[in-house]
Amino acid sequence: MNEYLILWDWGEFAMRWLHIVTGIAWIGSSFYFIALDLGLRRDVPLPPRANGEEWQVHGGGFYHIQKYMVAPEKMPEHLTWFKWESYATWLSGFGMLFFVYYMGADLYLVDVNVMDITGTVAIGISLVSIVVAWLVYDLICKSRFGDNNTRLMILLYMMLVAMAWGYVHVFSGRAAFLHLGAITATIMSANVFLVIIPNQKIVVADLIAGRTPDPKYGKIAKQRSTHNNYLTLPVLFLMISNHYPMAFATQYNWIIASLVFLMGVSIRHYFNSRHARAGNPLWTWAVTAALFGAIVALSMLPDEGAEPALSSLSPRQQRLLDAPQFAEVYDTVQGNCVMCHAAEPYVDGVYQTPRGVLLETEAQVAMQAQNIYLWAGRSHAMPPGNYNFMEPEQRRVIIDWFEGESAL
Ligand code: HEC
Repeated sequence: MNEYLILWDWGEFAMRWLHIVTGIAWIGSSFYFIALDLGLRRDVPLPPRANGEEWQVHGGGFYHIQKYMVAPEKMPEHLTWFKWESYATWLSGFGMLFFVYYMGADLYLVDVNVMDITGTVAIGISLVSIVVAWLVYDLICKSRFGDNNTRLMILLYMMLVAMAWGYVHVFSGRAAFLHLGAITATIMSANVFLVIIPNQKIVVADLIAGRTPDPKYGKIAKQRSTHNNYLTLPVLFLMISNHYPMAFATQYNWIIASLVFLMGVSIRHYFNSRHARAGNPLWTWAVTAALFGAIVALSMLPDEGAEPALSSLSPRQQRLLDAPQFAEVYDTVQGNCVMCHAAEPYVDGVYQTPRGVLLETEAQVAMQAQNIYLWAGRSHAMPPGNYNFMEPEQRRVIIDWFEGESAL
């Protein structure tokens, strides 16, 4: 039964590893092409139909790259496509969503103090919201708002702010941030899968058939790829924010998330300008720093939220609370964990609750049962460096307590 939980933990680890690797491959190639595209030189003699070229040096050799816009005169013999980086990132990201948030819906997705829904309902909302966000985005881009890039970006930004507000009123703060990242990443991946690559295929088919491709396909692809450019950094912030409760678990978290999208624009604007040799807009860093400062300040405003009520325990957590070993586990946690895992930790150098894991009240201990089991029972990850010499016997009790309940 609990070998299963450990396998599950490894499965999650493997999926996370894959997700990070594919994400690096996608974002890496995307950054590379943005820089290449913006840096193309047009002030040199170019072959017919070529739109710019660049010389680069890397890894012991020189590269001579030319861009053809809309397309070269005839189909090249070899053509490398860049799409699996994106698809694999989305698929492994969805895998993570499934492993962590759908399988652990009661623990991670639902916060009954935000909205009292079951895990299943929450999963339904999650799936529907991801699909609907893409459909709405795509519709807006194809509508007449799509004709003006700036107006389009402002409208899309407002949509993201609305989604941020909506999510924090449905899910736990952690899940809300993750979902905001997930819809943004879905939009980016779907842009590749449903717009950029299909348009590219039309152009390739035209070339093979000897037709002149319509330049509109290149234009649409460019618009979507510009959105992807500005969305990359916020997605990364939202995904890793899961490890930083100051970002997702404070009262103004949805405003924090909204500001993060603006930081994505200000940072990218700097690099885009540099790549295009269009000056050195250092002021963007002042904007970024101001936005980041505002985020930090918002996270420190006092939270009027209440302590989680006992009623927020799932049935299983309630049984763990009622289990005969609970008193002993609770004592162990009080003796070995709360010095750090408290609202106000009293260990030197620990200034805020580590990872937002509170272990002070009985309810909090029951809610964190699975984490306590994995971090301090089956593994020796906690306390860090066996800080306070926790006895193997105490770990044994945690294991018995948790496994006894799971076996029921
Ligand atoms: C000396 C301070 C300290 C003590 C004592 C301590 N922890 Fe931690 N705990 C931390 C820190 C710091 C982190 C974040 C570490 C990291 O992410 O690498 C952490 C992270 C965790 C996490 C991970 C949460 C997550 O999902 O990322 C769990 C669970 C946890 N601790 C449980 C416990 C338990 C149970 C005990 C007692 C048996 C304990 N800790 C004792 C400091 C402490």
